[in-house]
Amino acid sequence: MKVKQLKLGPMDNFSYLVWDEETRDAAVLDPAWQPEKLLAAVKAEGLKLHCVLLTHGHPDHINAVAAVSGDGLPVYLHEADYFMLEARPAGLRTVADGEQVQAGSLKLGVLHTPGHTPGSVCYTAPGAVFTGDTLFIGECGRVDLPGSSAEALYDSFVRLAALPGEAAVYPGHSYNGDTSTIGVQKEYNLYLKLALQGRREDFLKAVL
Ligand SMILES: [Fe+2]
Repeated sequence: MKVKQLKLGPMDNFSYLVWDEETRDAAVLDPAWQPEKLLAAVKAEGLKLHCVLLTHGHPDHINAVAAVSGDGLPVYLHEADYFMLEARPAGLRTVADGEQVQAGSLKLGVLHTPGHTPGSVCYTAPGAVFTGDTLFIGECGRVDLPGSSAEALYDSFVRLAALPGEAAVYPGHSYNGDTSTIGVQKEYNLYLKLALQGRREDFLKAVL
């Protein structure tokens, strides 16, 4: 599996292309801001785009969905975030915890990680996790937005802390860094550390 991280737009958002190196079957994650750059990368790498995966419904992660998906591609978003869509994109489908999304020969797992939004998900692949606005390098997502929940974010961090240490972390914004691993974040990310130690009250105090 190969990952291309593209920093796009005025808020340091990351969009990702993920693909199977043998078949070139690919998925795009959180297409936003500059679809022409994403489509140019798809062409340059010779990829067959099968679907759009959204980590959550905030506009800064989804504002290029229509430009990238056309009319044909399935667009996956957890239905708990449908309420924040201005318009439902063609091809919209929900994802649920524990499901696997198939992009041709490429398979990605779905981990429902509410907190930043009720429908936030992380997508897992061998050796990687795409964490959207749930987990940033050294930070966690905001929980002061409509539908946010600090309590839910704690439970989600407990789940993320259980992922293999070697899994690469690919966040939704370039805030304190662009990538890391779950293992390194368990040592240096205060929020992941608190979740790992079962310190729920301290986590809630720290995020609010
Ligand atoms: Fe967000």
